[in-house]
Amino acid sequence: MAVIASKAPHVKVTVVDISEAQIGAWNSQDLPIYEPGLDEMVFSVRGKNLFFSTDIDAAIAEADMIFISVNTPTKTSGIGAGRAANIKNCELCARKIAEVATSDKIVVEKSTVPVRTAESVRRVLVSASTHNFQVLSNPEFLAEGTAIADLIDPSRVLIGGEQTPAGLAAIDALVSIYANWVPREQIITTNLWSSEISKLVANAFLAQRVSSINSITALCEQTDADIDEISRAIGSDPRIGAKFLKASVGYGGSCFQKDILNLVYICDTFGLKEVANYWHQVVLMNDYQKSRFARKIVSSMFNTITGKRIAIFGFAFKKDTGDTRESAACYVMKELLDERAQMAVYDPKVQRAQMFEEFRYSCGITEETNDAGKLIQTCGSAMEAARGAHAIALMTEWDEFASYDYQAVYDVMSKPAFIFDGRNILPHDKLRAIGFEVYAIGKPNVSK
Ligand code: UGA
Repeated sequence: MAVIASKAPHVKVTVVDISEAQIGAWNSQDLPIYEPGLDEMVFSVRGKNLFFSTDIDAAIAEADMIFISVNTPTKTSGIGAGRAANIKNCELCARKIAEVATSDKIVVEKSTVPVRTAESVRRVLVSASTHNFQVLSNPEFLAEGTAIADLIDPSRVLIGGEQTPAGLAAIDALVSIYANWVPREQIITTNLWSSEISKLVANAFLAQRVSSINSITALCEQTDADIDEISRAIGSDPRIGAKFLKASVGYGGSCFQKDILNLVYICDTFGLKEVANYWHQVVLMNDYQKSRFARKIVSSMFNTITGKRIAIFGFAFKKDTGDTRESAACYVMKELLDERAQMAVYDPKVQRAQMFEEFRYSCGITEETNDAGKLIQTCGSAMEAARGAHAIALMTEWDEFASYDYQAVYDVMSKPAFIFDGRNILPHDKLRAIGFEVYAIGKPNVSK
């Protein structure tokens, strides 16, 4: 919304939420999320044509167009638990809009939703109000950490709507907003269902690439092949392309897993068992990769890590974000916790409370579970985490991790000192020369 306000100065954008705390934070100097370039963007338009408010009714009444941008987490209970997305929040928004609207509105579905949610939203609106509503689907393709750049220069904008004269007019209205900064040929318009499905399929394809390359890392570690060389070799075929071939300890984030599970659920619902199984394998491969990394740590360290101190470098699901949702670090640490290792975590953007919130949500672990609060320590620097550690497990590819003086790090660690590079960003040969035992994803095992 900040980018729309910035690029379309004649449009007044009001962001509303029921949370006073969230809106208060958006109105403060300390914005509630970290994203490179976001502060500058918000500060440049806030109070001009971008406003944050808890007065939801007033904002609905005055708006011509309303974006529903609520979270749609995977359901934890009831039908489709563990797979289907929960659209409760979308429906609540639709009911609120119908209750408060005093004129016709265009309602834009921005949240990632199950296919045919737009239809549900439309039916709620139509049954509860006499005004005319058009529902559009406008899925978001930005990635965290590069959100502002992705929005300013998007590869495409996708807008789906009903293929009726009123639906096409609503599509045009939204196109004209984006056309303030996005070239017209990059604004793709489709019917509603194509737009909704495209969002899930885009994430499924991206996650599939990561799982595909990660599946080959296991093979590389058994042979003398090197995954980075393979990525380069296959990625230089333009039909394959170079992006999203970076091997890792596993993908994370709030979108990939959730969207694939949602796609799987939809396929299952339509009786498409083979299609559902096909996509579900992407998730299973990711689970395997996270678990394989944890098992590698245990087996390399003489099959026992009980009581050993392991420094965890990074907890965010990728660099340049403080987001921890579905982070691979969480699952790997859970397995290390089961082995009763002591962990010392350092992440430049993640605080202890948030880390434990993720443990609770993803793994059902609290500070009290299995002594987790005692076994997991949080540190203010990587050096502090490494002091006395038997191993470092690098989970997030923060740039600073590659810039440390590893001789100094080695000097403060217990020996033999291990490094498990879950992102392949460290200079492995140099580390070996210092004396580290190095394990990297999909790299020949030089110590075997
Ligand atoms: C993803 C998509 O990239 C966005 O297009 C989409 O809009 C977004 O989901 C969403 O649905 O909201 P995001 O989850 O923010 O964006 O981050 P990605 O850059 O896609 O990374 C996802 C995970 O895959 C991270 O854990 C990352 O480290 C991992 N990854 C990515 C790899 O392990 N290897 C790669 O080569 C690329």
